[in-house]
Amino acid sequence: MPDKEFVAADLKTTAESGSVSWEAPSNIALVKYWGKKENQIPANPSVSFTLKNCKTTTTLNYVKVSEDTSISEEIEFDVIFEGVKKESFKPKIAAFFKRILPYCAYLKQFKFEVVSENSFPHSSGIASSASGMSALALCVMSLEKELFPEVTEDYFYKKASFLARLGSGSACRSVKGDLVVWGAHKEIPFSSDEYGIEYPFKIADVFKDFQDTILLVDKGKKKVSSTVGHNLMHGHPFAEARFKQAHDHLNALIPIFEKGDLEQFIKIVEREALTLHGMMMSSDPYFLLMKPNTLAIINKIWEKREESNIPVCFTLDAGANVHMLYPSKNKEEILEFVKNELVVYCENGHYICDEIGQGSKKL
Ligand code: DP6
Repeated sequence: MPDKEFVAADLKTTAESGSVSWEAPSNIALVKYWGKKENQIPANPSVSFTLKNCKTTTTLNYVKVSEDTSISEEIEFDVIFEGVKKESFKPKIAAFFKRILPYCAYLKQFKFEVVSENSFPHSSGIASSASGMSALALCVMSLEKELFPEVTEDYFYKKASFLARLGSGSACRSVKGDLVVWGAHKEIPFSSDEYGIEYPFKIADVFKDFQDTILLVDKGKKKVSSTVGHNLMHGHPFAEARFKQAHDHLNALIPIFEKGDLEQFIKIVEREALTLHGMMMSSDPYFLLMKPNTLAIINKIWEKREESNIPVCFTLDAGANVHMLYPSKNKEEILEFVKNELVVYCENGHYICDEIGQGSKKL
């Protein structure tokens, strides 16, 4: 039974054809989403920094093919990625359309072309599912807004995040805001398992332009997908303790964000990253996504922090790359550190300089 709040009314559409475009950023979780229930409901709440430079731009071209919203269960579409027709991307998008159909029955009346590109190289080991699914969900919502002009701004973004979640969980944190919470948490009003919300409390200035330098240790495709990893949390011997820890970490972050307490911030963010990988290493079957160079970089970051007192730390997503987080006032020194000491651990010496961003943008 679909969640009633987000079911669009039946419609005899007036729009015949058109085009909508959005760009949506990637995000990096500080408290990690790892483990989910049915229908993309997270096993624990998470919080992320939205990024600025790593983003996906998507145009959704649509043409009306039928007046009837009841016949087809399949949406007809083509995918063009970075100028090339991509059959291999279709199953993921087809699954997305199928999942959102109960909420967007009007889609059945149209045929689509999804034209997409990333600001970061596809083979960078940076997951594009968050930015990609978020950009596509926003395009769908722009079509919905065209068909139902009464859609309010609040509903628009809420449902965009809700739809993005059905494509990829972390994508619901790439719609709006610089700091986004997804998953119900008792101390965070209006937090929801269904969609991401902008973090509602005070955030100290130091975090508002926080930097994220992404050290690309391994640009290959991951051996184990996030979806498989999430499923291995079912029956994981440490699952319940881990889910509780995520709630506790989010709770602890509230005064840390407010005061700009970087020492405590670092402790939580690094513990989250290592716990995430600890869960992978202790699941059945177990797996390892860190590489020797991931560990080399982590050790270098610890040495640098010790010797310089710069509050630089790391986090990881489900891969070998390292996100190095630090305040903007330390940018110059940290980028020197990257060039002199860290690029040797990066595949082909590649890294990406990013920072906190403000969410998606309609083009
Ligand atoms: C480790 O959102 O990629 O990056 O919902 O199956 O698409 P699916 O998984 P996905 O998982 C992301 C996991 C993570 C942590 C996080 O971003 O919170």
